[in-house]
Amino acid sequence: MKTIIEPFKVKSVEPIRFTTKEEREKILTAADYNPFFIHADDVLIDLLTDSGTSAMSSDQWAGIMIGDEAYACSKSFYRFENTVKKITGLKYIIPTHQGRAAEKILFTLTGGKGKFIPSNTHFDTTRANIEFSGAEAVDLVVEEGKHPELRADFKGNMDIKKLDEFIRATGPENIPLCMITITNNSGGGQPVSMQNIRETKEVCKKYGIPLYIDACRFAENAYFIKLREPGYADKTPFEIAQEIFSYADGATMSAKKDALVNIGGFFATNDEELAMQSRNLLIITEGFPTYGGLAGRDLEAIAQGLEEVLDEHYLQYRIRSVEYFGERLDAAGVPILLPPGGHAIYIDALRFAEHIPQNLYPGQSVCCGLYVEGGIRAVEIGSVMFGKYGHNGELISPPMELVRMAVPRRVYTQSHIDYVIEVVIELYQKRKELPGYKITYEAPLLRHFTAKFEPVKL
Ligand code: F0G
Repeated sequence: MKTIIEPFKVKSVEPIRFTTKEEREKILTAADYNPFFIHADDVLIDLLTDSGTSAMSSDQWAGIMIGDEAYACSKSFYRFENTVKKITGLKYIIPTHQGRAAEKILFTLTGGKGKFIPSNTHFDTTRANIEFSGAEAVDLVVEEGKHPELRADFKGNMDIKKLDEFIRATGPENIPLCMITITNNSGGGQPVSMQNIRETKEVCKKYGIPLYIDACRFAENAYFIKLREPGYADKTPFEIAQEIFSYADGATMSAKKDALVNIGGFFATNDEELAMQSRNLLIITEGFPTYGGLAGRDLEAIAQGLEEVLDEHYLQYRIRSVEYFGERLDAAGVPILLPPGGHAIYIDALRFAEHIPQNLYPGQSVCCGLYVEGGIRAVEIGSVMFGKYGHNGELISPPMELVRMAVPRRVYTQSHIDYVIEVVIELYQKRKELPGYKITYEAPLLRHFTAKFEPVKL
């Protein structure tokens, strides 16, 4: 087989700025050791997120020009609505300015004290929106999903037995809906199998609980199903996506991922009453129901992006390029979450920085190290993002301590990734020099975005 190439040519470029190691040390100190505070201009390769960082196609930019900016019932809304309906088969499609706005609406209307929302693994904004409503977010990922070194095809799966037990123990009346995140971002960008989605739906149906899909990376998940699940090799990603959504009663989506745009999202549901309430809420928070916090041009770009993302050549390139990134690190002995997920490579910080105790945030230390070493920006997905405090103020850590290097869609070439690989390997060789970190400031919710740190010598 020949090399899998980028299925596009470059029409417009954006320079990146080089800095010295000494400059980066000063920049990191000024940013209180939190990469979220580093000016993007001071970053060489930005792997902070794959969200809203995609390069749009010339057809999407053309869509920006032909976007219909009518306040109500614009042409662009109907193109957007038709495209989402074609893929999801869901009845009521409500645009929002991004994924969390859809979550906010959904959980304002369905959450509340005494309610529980199970999922394979909730993303942090989903969890925060559920908790903000007073409800409790529960993660029920399969056991293999908690072991970074273990290779399995569908580590994002829901633990079906645990879900059934959880519903029986909690009472279906206290569970307004069940969610499934595809791919499972917080669990390492790992896919969920069709069989698992089907079985999750069966359990939900048995208890009369609707199933909602967090669909941010649905196309990547569909392609993993094509590659790995028996019976799907000859199906198109579009057909696979249609089957995935056929098991859903609704979905939330951040279009900033698999719709290949810089802003946007939607909430979709088959529940007429919930759709009506959502539109009422949308009007006071986001905007009129046919634009929902977006411009007509954004809706046009989303519709175009949703069509492009299901292209087989695109998905083959996308999944293979992330796999290549992981393969080379794994071959060099760098501990990463295996197998590589769809949108990112996750360093297993507990094994990378073994000498740093969890309460001194090894993941944060690896992130800081990557920046100083090579100007790379990554994000901690571990005790900083998900840590809680126990009664005595002790840190309660999540099951995994990860550092995510997310790959923006259609943005970096293979040599950019080769450079990143070299930097990660170099840092791994001098990992013993990495310090611990302590938090000097934190916000009560989603603390990782604004926390401040100080290094601690070990
Ligand atoms: N659900 C998942 C699985 C996500 O990954 C995200 C965002 C959201 C919901 C929220 O969407 O950002 O449009 O409000 N993830 C980004 C990330 C921020 O970096 O993984 P949003």
